[in-house]
Amino acid sequence: MAISATITGIGRYVPPQVLTNADLEKMVETTDEWIVERTGIRERHIAPPDWATSDLAVEAAKLALADAGISSHDIDLIIVGTATPDMIFPATACLVQDRIGAKNAGAYDLSAACSSFVYGLAMAYGVITGGLARRVLVIGAETLSRITNWKDRSTCVLFGDSAGAVVVEACPPGEGFLSFFLGADGSGGDLLKLPAGGSRLPASYETVERDLHYIYQNGREVFKFAVKAMPEAIEQVLRRANLTQDEVKWYIPHQANLRIIEAASKRLGEPMEKFIVNIDRYGNTSSASVPVALSEAVDDGRICPGDVVVLVAFGGGFTFGACALRWTGRR
Ligand code: ACO
Repeated sequence: MAISATITGIGRYVPPQVLTNADLEKMVETTDEWIVERTGIRERHIAPPDWATSDLAVEAAKLALADAGISSHDIDLIIVGTATPDMIFPATACLVQDRIGAKNAGAYDLSAACSSFVYGLAMAYGVITGGLARRVLVIGAETLSRITNWKDRSTCVLFGDSAGAVVVEACPPGEGFLSFFLGADGSGGDLLKLPAGGSRLPASYETVERDLHYIYQNGREVFKFAVKAMPEAIEQVLRRANLTQDEVKWYIPHQANLRIIEAASKRLGEPMEKFIVNIDRYGNTSSASVPVALSEAVDDGRICPGDVVVLVAFGGGFTFGACALRWTGRR
């Protein structure tokens, strides 16, 4: 392929309200010690009651556009990866398109749960290198607090709200995105899901009474899948880019559980120092976790131009995926 694609701007928005483990101790039967030991999470951020996913996405998008030094009119396509859209339809991406005034852009949502941002980058790469778009805005945004059962201690300690966005543009081959790997195992669909509100089980008084409008997961089975899927995705994406693990400077994993990240580092024989981790401050923010961690690591100078970075995620579906890139820095 004569061209590749790269990230030319990045932004994140994390709502200011913090919910600590001590706060959760007052809401359900849990302890700070249990949560930290089993998950690595100390606090998470919660969106204001009148905010929805598009509100977080718009803030992150504006920062990414400013970082890339372009106007919203320059965007040809907006992809929002989310498991918590404002509504089933219209797409949250269309709400963002209107709010930021991206009048020349197409817009759609991408549903691959926590892998959605990585999947979105692959789609952006595809449309740019295929000549269908010049600039794509890829956003991972979630208000998981809205689908969390705050009475269920086995899930409510895990999730938070946030958004991350990137602008993707063409670049010379060998820079920017080097390879992608996308995987799925639909046989695990029942292990992590939002049971009600779709066409299988439309919302009703009964579904609300039975708490079926909240995240359901079999935590242990999801854990087992994740510790296999993340290393596999990393190995596949490195093979496709003809890279060795030694050439990778940073791994940015989906932040679901510190123990999952530690297990992945052990399986790969890579030190934890190469993994960017912020789960202690944000919890699991699904599709937003990878772009938020990437944005922080770029801003604080850990990721420098020329660094090989691997983004890797897993999520409901099951889905999993990875992206290898050579960071090109801001324009
Ligand atoms: N506080 C105190 N005790 C708790 C809590 C809590 N918050 N939650 C569960 N427990 C108890 C359980 O009741 C159980 O007690 P028992 O032994 O008396 O039955 C005990 O702790 C152990 O429970 P497990 O579920 O076995 O705990 P585990 O070590 O597996 O950790 C966890 C649970 C954190 C959910 C883990 O399985 C995990 O992280 N799984 C992956 C989850 C994940 O990545 N999900 C992705 C979701 S992405 C999305 O949907 C957007």
